[in-house]
Amino acid sequence: MSAQILDGKAIAADIREQVKQHVEARTAKGLRAPGLAVVLVGDNPASEVYVRNKRNACAQVGFHSELIELSGDTTQAQLLTLVDELNARDDIDGILVQLPLPDQIDEDTVTERILPTKDVDGFHPYNIGRLTLRMPLLRPCTPRGVMTMLERTGMDLVGKDAVIIGQSNIVGRPMMLELLMARCTPMVCHSKTRDLADKVRQADIVVAAVGVPRFVQGDWIKPGAIVIDVGINRLDDGKLCGDVDYAACAENAAWITPVPGGVGPMTVATLLENTLQAAELHAAG
Ligand code: GUN
Repeated sequence: MSAQILDGKAIAADIREQVKQHVEARTAKGLRAPGLAVVLVGDNPASEVYVRNKRNACAQVGFHSELIELSGDTTQAQLLTLVDELNARDDIDGILVQLPLPDQIDEDTVTERILPTKDVDGFHPYNIGRLTLRMPLLRPCTPRGVMTMLERTGMDLVGKDAVIIGQSNIVGRPMMLELLMARCTPMVCHSKTRDLADKVRQADIVVAAVGVPRFVQGDWIKPGAIVIDVGINRLDDGKLCGDVDYAACAENAAWITPVPGGVGPMTVATLLENTLQAAELHAAG
């Protein structure tokens, strides 16, 4: 078998087009464009690239976006004051503080300070709690984007065994909640998991979010499985590669996401969906 490609770039372009049409419909009704504030602290090169991509996507769909760049020695108190100001602004629907933050700032404290209705990352305990209880409001972008891709395969997800490799707050844990809500049977594996390869071999859906280049081997993939590669690793030669050995896994999988052009563009497109959703929440009062 040779896998079909789940083209995140193309699906993300469809989503951007839909969001753009919604923005046009809002402005035709006299409503303002959704507003996103992106906060970048310090000069992490990868974060700078991600933030640029997010802002470009905002411009494409007609959102108002603001980049607030703070120096790497910003204190936690200064950042919290900024979050309070953004929380209070009527023209800002979404607040995104790019992670990781410098060591002197506690990420959880900052995440909890963002108003849940402006938390377009979906990281606030309120939003994670709502997802846990099957009453989602704003959902973490990468897992929500993965669900959109899984839906596009047209495969029935109900009852499928899913293995997630990686237990982060940003991907692994909310991914488990999304898959459970879709009535899959998810298992979250991590660095202490025993017999990982055997667990992956049972999976109809594999989501790799480990941050190790080509970690998932071709012979771990059950024939006909869907393989979702969340990893973005930069190799010594400057090329990007995922957490999955793409060529070998594509031999067994029915569907596979490429890197680049898979999950990455979906995360950005889903951020736009979340920001539009937040704007609609705010308009509804
Ligand atoms: N750092 C890596 N991924 C993300 C993300 O989705 N949101 C934020 N805020 N920071 C990140």
